[in-house]
Amino acid sequence: MPAPPIFRPITPADGAAILRLHRRAILLDGVRTYSPAMVHSWADGMNADYAGRSIACGSLIEAAELHGAVVGFSDVLGDEIRGLFVDPGFSRRGVGRGLAERAFARMRHHGHERAKVTAALSGVGFYEAVGFRAVRGVRHPTRGGMVLPVLEMVRELEPKVAPGPTFMSWPRPLLPGLQRAGGAP
Ligand SMILES: CC(C)(COP(=O)(O)OP(=O)(O)OC[C@H]1O[C@@H](n2cnc3c(N)ncnc32)[C@H](O)[C@@H]1OP(=O)(O)O)[C@@H](O)C(=O)NCCC(=O)NCCS
Repeated sequence: MPAPPIFRPITPADGAAILRLHRRAILLDGVRTYSPAMVHSWADGMNADYAGRSIACGSLIEAAELHGAVVGFSDVLGDEIRGLFVDPGFSRRGVGRGLAERAFARMRHHGHERAKVTAALSGVGFYEAVGFRAVRGVRHPTRGGMVLPVLEMVRELEPKVAPGPTFMSWPRPLLPGLQRAGGAP
């Protein structure tokens, strides 16, 4: 069975690996829904200082590792997923879902009731699979100058479910009846 991903906050040493997978995800996956010129415009001007950016704007950038290599990352600020990318060589192994689920858990922990994302069209199927729905299409200017159609999406963050009563916490009068019915030892 393949090893599950390990998730951790990024460090400055991850910059080059994250830049590489980010570019590959945009250029190789993005081109499924955008033209080559559009994905090059999207990938234009990226640099490796993810840790610095994270500190500067307060977002949490989390890396996903498989077999010791960084294969994905998420960039989350408050109730918004600002970016979530997985190297195309490691797609469809649950890395993206793992990053998203961890982002949802943090958002819930901070009291948010709804998550939002402005999704590239190449990410819409994934975001639907993890519970988002489309709100409206908007136009997103990229660093390279071209404007990409993208989709604003939201997802409700269901409150944490309180654990149900345990067997030992059931009211005592219920127990004899259950024992007669063979429902409890
Ligand atoms: C979209 C992306 C993050 C998915 O990462 P991933 O690790 O392959 O996703 P997972 O394996 O965790 O898949 C989770 C679910 O999404 C679905 N999914 C993943 N990619 C999909 C796609 N391109 N189309 C439709 N569904 C997709 C999977 O089938 C899976 O559903 P399931 O669990 O019900 O079977 C990754 O392919 C990527 O970085 N793409 C390019 C960049 C991009 O568009 N990122 C979003 C920018 S806003």
